[in-house]
Amino acid sequence: MTVLSSSLDVAGPDYAAARAAMLERLDAVGAEHARALAGGGDKYVTRHRARGKLLARERVELLLDPDTPFLELSPLAGWGSDYTVGASIVTGVGVVEGVECVITANDPTVRGGASNPWTLKKALRANEIAFANRLPVISLVESGGADLPSQKEIFIPGGGLFRDLTRLSAAGVPTVAVVFGNSTAGGAYVPGMSDHVIMVKEQAKVFLGGPPLVKMATGEESDDESLGGAEMHAGVSGLADHFAVDELDALRLARRVVGRLNWRKATPDPDPDLDPAGFVSPPLYDEDELLGVVPGDLKVPFDPREVIARVVDGSDFDEVKARYGRSLVVGWARLHGYPVGILANAQGVLFSEESQKAAQFIQLANQRDVPLVFLHNTTGYMVGREYEQGGIIKHGAMMINAVANSRVPHLSVFMGASYGAGHYGMCGRAFDPRFLFAWPSAKSAVMGPQQLAGVLSIVARQSAVARGRPYDDEADAALREMVERQIEAESLAMFLSGRLYDDGVIDPRDTRTVLGMCLSAIHSAPVEGVRGGFGVFRM
Ligand code: COA
Repeated sequence: MTVLSSSLDVAGPDYAAARAAMLERLDAVGAEHARALAGGGDKYVTRHRARGKLLARERVELLLDPDTPFLELSPLAGWGSDYTVGASIVTGVGVVEGVECVITANDPTVRGGASNPWTLKKALRANEIAFANRLPVISLVESGGADLPSQKEIFIPGGGLFRDLTRLSAAGVPTVAVVFGNSTAGGAYVPGMSDHVIMVKEQAKVFLGGPPLVKMATGEESDDESLGGAEMHAGVSGLADHFAVDELDALRLARRVVGRLNWRKATPDPDPDLDPAGFVSPPLYDEDELLGVVPGDLKVPFDPREVIARVVDGSDFDEVKARYGRSLVVGWARLHGYPVGILANAQGVLFSEESQKAAQFIQLANQRDVPLVFLHNTTGYMVGREYEQGGIIKHGAMMINAVANSRVPHLSVFMGASYGAGHYGMCGRAFDPRFLFAWPSAKSAVMGPQQLAGVLSIVARQSAVARGRPYDDEADAALREMVERQIEAESLAMFLSGRLYDDGVIDPRDTRTVLGMCLSAIHSAPVEGVRGGFGVFRM
């Protein structure tokens, strides 16, 4: 066994300070999560209930197998924008009749469940997850369609939602729509394009145009039920496959549909015999201690092995090239029984050695079909004459090439900093990690706020000198301070999560559980690495 030892001094002042800082950030994130849970607020929630309807999260809960968890995604979508936190839709991965599915549920208490730009991004992301991991999709529909004042942002890209549903179906990934209420115009194509459709009696309204629009267009007098009610669609148009007498019946029918999908994961669950010590052995160190690993000040480095020791099965980690390129820790482990390769930043900066080490390790994982976990705490690739002359660009490019063309599933966790091209090399958002989560301590930007403000100031000073103008030092100090504050605010986990640059901000203590759920979901699709299909490596 290669069990990690820990030198985390849980009784010391550094640990206490880091823990206090993390708890404070967690409180702040918790308050924002509470806003998302509150949906449209008391007035609209009360009205919704008075109509005898279930809330979006209640629908999800009743759909899931009892006592199974739901991995909610992007609950902070829209944070920092003019729209309600959560973006009027709930998305996530959960288990229905033993089948891991992507579930989406409109929140009709927020502007009638209408889709704003963040709703759209969140829904498209859920589809992406379903596609990449071959997870059946269940849409719990009740939406006012496009948020009309922001139509310019959503109308054209919104077609992607219909495209995705048909492409999922063509790829053999089942799609189920359960219609609880309004599903007008564009919304009508969600049941229109799903493999299986359930509609709720006297609630579902599925039509291209409601009575007022029909009156305007053709002069015809009509009503909701004859245009798009469940009874009509189940008995006349044939759009509904199942007629539900109420919401609970609809959820029961949805479970029956999933139970009959004959769905099998591409990769069976881990073999318990692989772990004779008990399935699956937890880490030897307390996950609670993850609260005190990341210092409040990200400039202070920390040893990612302390994190790995609290996340992987039995804290058992086979490190590779431990004496080479020490600023990046790489090695093999199991997580809830699934084999993983881990890449974790140690001192923050990536040098040529680290980049080459990463590229080699990523190739190995692809040869062995082993998923990769990236634990971020990097300020980027090293700059300076010595490093440029040593080929840092081509070595960084090598790592980025390896990440970009790797085909095994990637999972990314931002523990601390994720700056510059290091963010890319460590599989940032643009490199399509299957899932990406941030700790509340995470920060991501093109560079650190002080560095960015400093660079701007140097450039402005040089420009003034070149034009023969005096440089206003007082204005410069004010500008630097303003820029620093702006970049700091834009680098924070909540801001990034609001923009869907991750799949959610998680409590560090949940990292093992969240990664385990992701790994299980990932294995719904075949896990196959690329063999030799990388771009040209500059040597
Ligand atoms: N865009 C922007 N805002 C919308 C909206 C939309 N598509 N649909 C509803 N809202 C707003 C309403 O203006 C209202 O705001 P307010 O409370 O500040 O006045 C709030 O959301 C709740 O709407 P309300 O109509 O009171 O809720 P409801 O539950 O009784 O009805 C709908 C919900 C969706 C059936 C109804 O609002 C509706 O028909 N909306 C328009 C649907 C449509 O034609 N969409 C275009 C599709 S492309």
